[in-house]
Amino acid sequence: TWTTTSVVEEQVAAIRAQVGSKRAICGLSGGVDSAVAAALVQKAIGDQLTCVYVDHGLMRKGETEQVEKDFVAATGVQLKVVDAAERFLNALKGVSDPEQKRKIIGREFIRVFEQAQAELVAEAGAEGEEVAFLVQGTLYPDIVESGGGTGTANIKSHHNVGGLPDDIEFELVEPLRQLFKDEVRMVGSELGLPDEIVHRQPFPGPGLGIRIVGEVTKDRLDLLREADAIAREELTAAGLDREIWQCPVVLLADVRSVGVQGDGRTYGHPIVLRPVSSEDAMTADWTRMPYEALARISTRITNEVADVNRVVLDVTSKPPGTIEWE
Ligand code: XMP
Repeated sequence: TWTTTSVVEEQVAAIRAQVGSKRAICGLSGGVDSAVAAALVQKAIGDQLTCVYVDHGLMRKGETEQVEKDFVAATGVQLKVVDAAERFLNALKGVSDPEQKRKIIGREFIRVFEQAQAELVAEAGAEGEEVAFLVQGTLYPDIVESGGGTGTANIKSHHNVGGLPDDIEFELVEPLRQLFKDEVRMVGSELGLPDEIVHRQPFPGPGLGIRIVGEVTKDRLDLLREADAIAREELTAAGLDREIWQCPVVLLADVRSVGVQGDGRTYGHPIVLRPVSSEDAMTADWTRMPYEALARISTRITNEVADVNRVVLDVTSKPPGTIEWE
């Protein structure tokens, strides 16, 4: 019978057998799958694993710290954090088109990750060790979607980052390839990962970059991070985290509307709340969430976030709307 304990034991043994005394690398995205895969491999081979986390500056408030502190505290993993925020901002300068943004973010991500990977391989080489394995958080549905193959030849184009290069010389370690998402979460809990990581709602790889309608700038990111943090705090306080699949908070940076605050007229930006209910993100409906929670989010965002004078609710299902605005 299936138990999380037996899955962990089985996978730990399999990973040890596969990797032996060589070294492995794992890219962390902040998402559940890569975190659980890394934690499993860490349990199996300890310091032979190094994780790489690329901070593209498009994360939500506290998320990078969650990886840097909470994940490391829970697993004891060796982590290399690459702060690439400047680089991503520069590459995104002047770009408003959603597809352009996605392409740029995906491309820069791969470049930064490959560079970090090359540095680790070189460092290990200098110590006479070989880095031969790349850990991936591939799940069973990912394999089914990509045609059911095994081994290095059939990697699903990395959903989070837009595709790993074809010519990787690593052998893959995919300890989650027989599991579904809910099972991955159970394994994560069994491994002692915090709930904030294990029950994290879906968040797109391009991050807040595709939740700013208009050009992505540092100021706009800071503004959106504040608004998003308030919405998340209030949704959690209202006990809605499990009912809501995810709630994108979107900044309409190119739109302004007139408002009034104190004695003065304002001319600020709207923030869109997009709470959705879904089974698999393929289709979704807008969540009929309590007005009280909406009211609190709206009041707090307009009071606490400068330059935002209006909060609007997206009441569109998917289709015809997508979950994200870009
Ligand atoms: P849409 O907007 O297409 O989103 O209805 C469906 C689900 O996918 C997430 N999403 C992404 N996830 N990289 C990701 O890892 C991406 O580029 C990306 N774009 C959308 C979205 O948050 C939703 O859960």
